[in-house]
Amino acid sequence: MRILFINGPNLNLLGRRETGIYGRTTLAEIKKRVLQRARALRVQVDFRQSNHEGELVDLIGAAPGRYSAIVINPAAYTHTSVALRDAIAAVGLPAVEIHLSNIHAREDFRHRSLTAPVCVGQICGFGPLSYLLGLEAAVALAKNAGKQS
Ligand code: DQA
Repeated sequence: MRILFINGPNLNLLGRRETGIYGRTTLAEIKKRVLQRARALRVQVDFRQSNHEGELVDLIGAAPGRYSAIVINPAAYTHTSVALRDAIAAVGLPAVEIHLSNIHAREDFRHRSLTAPVCVGQICGFGPLSYLLGLEAAVALAKNAGKQS
């Protein structure tokens, strides 16, 4: 089983970006934790990041047939991107939206997610743990999808 992790804009700056909100853990460290947990669960993970909306759309579009589920932190595109929403809806793979921060406890413009309605669910507010919870959810969803097909 392969799970695709997708990280949106500015998440490459984790560790030094607004540390009061996002903490000091870098994306490389989060990736390490996710891969470690994935090994224990015996699943394969590809972990990607891009600051470019079109590149994220391409990653999602190329996922069917290669991955069983998607875990996505669309970052700022959560709140703006019809293109990402449409891409997730188009591929029909189970997707889990994750955020480090609790977007519902922040500025009003972060309360709305354009992508969450086309995901199975959203996990937010747990810092780097959101990624591990996202992995658990994706593995469960992929196993379930396998049973149904
Ligand atoms: C974020 C929350 C978004 O509102 C923000 O634009 C980000 C990070 C998070 O993980 O908490 O870049 O997705």
